[in-house]
Amino acid sequence: MPALAWVNGRFGPIAALGVPVEDRGLQFADAVYEVVAVLAGTPFDWAPHAERLQRNLAALRIEGAPSARALELVVRSLLGRARIDDGLLHLQVTRGVARRDHAFPPRTRPTVAITVRPFDFRRRLGLQREGVTAISRPDPRWKRCDLKTTNLLGAVLAKEDARNQGAFEALFLDPQGHVTEGASTNVWLVDRAGRLVTHPPTAAILAGVARGTLLRLARAQGYTVDERPFTLHEAQRAAELFLTSTTAPVIPIVRLDGAEIGQGRPGPVARHLAQLMWAEVARQTGWRP
Ligand code: PDD
Repeated sequence: MPALAWVNGRFGPIAALGVPVEDRGLQFADAVYEVVAVLAGTPFDWAPHAERLQRNLAALRIEGAPSARALELVVRSLLGRARIDDGLLHLQVTRGVARRDHAFPPRTRPTVAITVRPFDFRRRLGLQREGVTAISRPDPRWKRCDLKTTNLLGAVLAKEDARNQGAFEALFLDPQGHVTEGASTNVWLVDRAGRLVTHPPTAAILAGVARGTLLRLARAQGYTVDERPFTLHEAQRAAELFLTSTTAPVIPIVRLDGAEIGQGRPGPVARHLAQLMWAEVARQTGWRP
């Protein structure tokens, strides 16, 4: 089975399952979500994804959603049916279905929709070898980017700009000219002294699960990681610049707004960090690049 969904207790092909038109996810983006990598049939970093989902549900005061444990059982059952080795799980929980009115409706049950589709992580190895290009854009999003909600229009428009310019990612700039994060990634630089720098986990960014995992792995290897804002100018003059996310685990940026980064090709630190990440993937799932 190539792709499969579970929606409020029913399994089926993704295209066959739907939610009512008055679902608050559709009406208001009143919903949270997670994207989880599945490698060798096993979700990678499941625990931090499940914890973040529960934290976001609590932040939006969406009550009555399944517990992390209950979701894990559904995910296991979905993966067992789909028989997908390498894929992406998408979990979405909305506040539910109610007549359209902005304030919270009384007595709604959350809508829970989970899908899994194949995803070729081996193609990411090519991007890691070659590097990607990025553009920068003023950040048009709301002020709670730390919440992983389905209100993604700012990211959608920026990603479309990136694609139209042949770039892999759009990096967001705050009003002070700092690079906060990518449209769907976190951004890191390697300075001339070999230190890693990435934006602190404020409301200006989504603190990625991949970001958290790489922070831990890098520090354990003796890297110094400064969680501080950095400017576009600093990013363009960095020795290396790279992205992390569930779907882009350590992808070097070799060109930003047309300017070459470092030598204009992936550098040794990103290569080493990518190896650390794949070793962690292998440890958790058995998958090997
Ligand atoms: N995007 N920042 C933003 C704005 C994101 O949307 C994402 C993830 C990240 C990285 O988070 P993580 O390491 O937990 O994947 C950072 C997902 C993959 C998406 O929307 O498809």
